[in-house]
This record gives sequence, C-alpha cells and structure tokens, in this order.
Amino acid sequence: MYPYGHRPSLIRELLPGRVWSVEQLHGVWYVAVPIRMTVLKVNGGLLLYSPVAPTAEVVAELRRLEVAHGPVSTIVLATASGLEHKVAVPAMARAFAKATVWVCEGQWSFPLRLPSAWLGFPSDRTKVLFRDGLPHADQLAWIGLGPLDLGLGNFVEVACLDRSSGCLLVTDALVSFTATVPAIFELDPTPLLFHARNGGADPLIDTEANRIKGWKRILLFANFFRPAAVSVPKLGEILGQMYGDQCNNPRSHFGFYPFRWSEDWESDADDLIRGADESFGISLAPVLERLVFVRAQEPLLEWLRKLGQYNEITSLVSAHYDAPKQLKATQLIAIADRFEQRSWAPSQGSWQTLASIDQTLIRLGLVGAVDSSHR
Ligand SMILES: [Fe+2]
Repeated sequence: MYPYGHRPSLIRELLPGRVWSVEQLHGVWYVAVPIRMTVLKVNGGLLLYSPVAPTAEVVAELRRLEVAHGPVSTIVLATASGLEHKVAVPAMARAFAKATVWVCEGQWSFPLRLPSAWLGFPSDRTKVLFRDGLPHADQLAWIGLGPLDLGLGNFVEVACLDRSSGCLLVTDALVSFTATVPAIFELDPTPLLFHARNGGADPLIDTEANRIKGWKRILLFANFFRPAAVSVPKLGEILGQMYGDQCNNPRSHFGFYPFRWSEDWESDADDLIRGADESFGISLAPVLERLVFVRAQEPLLEWLRKLGQYNEITSLVSAHYDAPKQLKATQLIAIADRFEQRSWAPSQGSWQTLASIDQTLIRLGLVGAVDSSHR
C-alpha cells in the first residue's frame, strides 16, 4: 500500500476560520489518489467529516485548531460502504476521546456481518445519523442518499451542507476530475513519474509533462482498474527490463513495470476529464456508476435534485480528487438532468473490467441483475 508506512498530509485552509481540508494519498502500487477529511468549524468546536489516518502530523494540526476554535466534538462517517473512509474512524475516535462519533445507518462488513463495536467504533459514544438525531442541525443540513439495496450490502451516503459557508461535503457519490495534478504530489511526485514511463528500464524524470502524463494514467488505473489502453507484456519482457542502469533502486521498484500503454491511451483519460467538464466539473466515479448507481438511477437523481433545493450552496468538497469546486444549486439540478439524458454505465472500452466485475457478482448471486431500462 503506497505510501509505504510514511503518510504525509497536505493541510489547507479552504475558508478562513471555517473549513479546512486534510489530504493524504492512498493506493496500491503507486496508483495513489488523494483522500480527504474536511474539518468544519461548528458551534463550540470542530467537526471532522470523513476522517483520514490520524498521524502525528494530523493530530498536531487538529490540536492547534482546537486552541483557536474549540475541541473536536464530532466525527462523522457518512458512508456505509467506503472502506477507505471507515478504516480511519476507530483510531481518530481514540485520538479525540470526548468526540461523539456519528455514522450513517447500514454499516456493513464482508464476508461476515460484524457488530459495529467489533469494527472498532466506540459503543458508548457512537450514534446513527437520522435514527439518533443529527449533529449541529442548526448550522448544518444533512441530505441522505439510500439505503440502496445492492444485495451484497447497502449503499448509503449522507451529504453535509455547512449553511453559512455554502460548502457541500460529500464522500464518494460526486467527484471532480481535473487534468491538473493534485497539489499533494508536491510532497512526493514519485507515483506520477513511475507511471509516466514506457518501460521498467526508463529512468524517473521529473518534468511538468511527465507529472501530468503520470497523473492521467493514475486516473485511468484508479477509476477503471484495468484501462483498455494497458496490456501486460510477457514475463520475459518484464524481467528483461529489470537490468537497466536505472533499475537498482526501490523507488522504481527495481525496474518491475508490468504495463504497456497503447499509443492512443490519453484519449480515455481526456474523456473522463471532459465528462466532468460537461457537468460543471462534477462526475460520478465510474466504479460507482457501473456497480452501484446503474441499479439506482432514480434515487441518485432525486438526491441531486434535493441538494439543488439548497440555494446556499457555493462549492463542493468531495473526499476524493479536486476540491473545493465552485458549484451552485441550480447546477446540481442541471447535472441531474444531464445524467438522466446521457448514456448510462457503458460496458465497452475502459469500462469492460467494471462490467465484468458486475457480471461476476450477478453470476455469484451477490447482487441483482440490472434493469435494462436504466441503460
Ligand atoms: Fe471513497
């Protein structure tokens, strides 16, 4: 798991004295994408939405904010399924032992359904959003999507609108893809440079063009798992590249690079980014579109239109990729209309791997078949 035991964070103040972003990178084999916790100033203290790993650096920064703004009083896990967000909650709850932990309903684990206390949530101070009330409801609006029954488990996500700043916080349901390399890679551009190469014997060369090239390839890997433009060379070819002059270092994985990109690889990445541009910079993550929302188009559109009723919205802060993204309520309604009209969850090109995962889950009886009227 990148970043291999050392987890630096990028901490930014998004709105002075009100909203902060704490980003880390997570991923496998240098396919590293930013994951974000958002910190909100609330009456009497601070709220953490979608916690990240509470490293010493993060805890020290939060302690500094506590001095100025009051204690971390509320920790929110607003997804039922997103493991990468769930995993940091117990440790963050231990770091801030007086905070109330709020989770959305329908938390689930696989393959065994374990009680939430076994998953590390402190039972004496964990509450369920909506069922047990809502935190800071005088300042924040909470808008839930789901539960959407997928068979394997429920998909639930709860958006949080900070009404005075206009920041709309979401976890996974909406993202903003850009060709601009996320600022967190300034801390370590190695993942970008690793993937910008054509073969394992190539050196890691830090140029602006290579950073963008690497970022676009990471976007494709992270969203499609096995992009159509990538093939895996024969083992002999992969091993043969490992004897180059530049290979004898762990940073380039000793020259092990089992990918071959086709000439036209960039168009798939540009399509992904263009899709966002055509929807005011907002997209659905392909994995959710192809595996979850394909079964629940109506509830998704209804949720977007419900969000569109809040005229206070000025920006979107998602737990992944670019943020903050300027956004108006009327644009959310337009995005819902566009999603309704465009072709939905394809199975061709780079979407093939997601489609085959879907087919496997259907065949194993873990999820239901897709209603073809939604396609
Ligand atoms: Fe996520």
